[in-house]
Amino acid sequence: MTATRIDGKAFAARLRERVGDYAATFAEAAGRKAGLAVVLVGEDAASQVYVGAKGKATLAANMASFEHRLPMDTTSEDLMALVEKLNNDDSVDGILVQLPLPDHLDEQSIIAAISPDKDVDGFHVINAGRLSVGQTGFVPCTPLGCMMLLTDRLGDLSGLEAVVIGRSNIVGKPMAQLLLDANATVTIAHSRTKDLASVVRRADIVVAAVGRPQMIGKDWLKDGATVIDVGINRLPPEPGKEKGKLVGDVAFDEASEVAGAITPVPGGVGPMTIAVLLRNTLVAAHRNAGLEAPADL
Ligand code: GUN
Repeated sequence: MTATRIDGKAFAARLRERVGDYAATFAEAAGRKAGLAVVLVGEDAASQVYVGAKGKATLAANMASFEHRLPMDTTSEDLMALVEKLNNDDSVDGILVQLPLPDHLDEQSIIAAISPDKDVDGFHVINAGRLSVGQTGFVPCTPLGCMMLLTDRLGDLSGLEAVVIGRSNIVGKPMAQLLLDANATVTIAHSRTKDLASVVRRADIVVAAVGRPQMIGKDWLKDGATVIDVGINRLPPEPGKEKGKLVGDVAFDEASEVAGAITPVPGGVGPMTIAVLLRNTLVAAHRNAGLEAPADL
């Protein structure tokens, strides 16, 4: 069998298009554009690229983008003051503080300072709590994007065996929660799990978020499993090349021989994250303006 390739890039493009259309309608109804503020502290190269991409995507989706690039030596007080200003700014619907922060800044306390109703990353403990008890809030973008790809592919997930590999607050834990809400039977596996391969082999749905290049091979997978690969890892460069190849946590080619469907890296989960961020921001804007968000947003 050769697995169907789940085209996250195309799915994300369609979602961004829909968000753009609804954002234009929102701007007419509310008399202002939905707005996303992105805060970057320091010069981390990858973060600079992500923040630039988020700003461009926000504008392309008919929303206002507010970028705040702060120097590496920004104090906690200064960063908190900016977050507070954005919390109180009615043109800002969503606030994203790009992680990782420099070592002298405490990520948890900065995230805690963001208004939960503007926390479009879904990282605030209030939003984690809301997700955990089934209240409306904001769900982290990457797991929500994975969920969209899964339901698009499989429809109803009731009773399916799902194994999430990885237990981070940003991906693994919220992913497990979403799968549980969708009535899957959920296992969270991690680096200390005994006989990980045999646990994964039970799964109808595998979500891999461990950050280990090509760890999951074909003999880890049940025939026909749906595989969502969240990993983005760079292999060492081949001789004469400057950069190594980007690969996921799953050995794509061999896994494709066994899986029913699988996301590639790149072009799978990655593009979904920004699309869902825009979606979350537009949902926030509707809530902040007292308008009902479209059901298919
Ligand atoms: N750094 C890498 N990905 C993300 C993300 O989704 N949100 C934030 N805030 N920082 C990140």
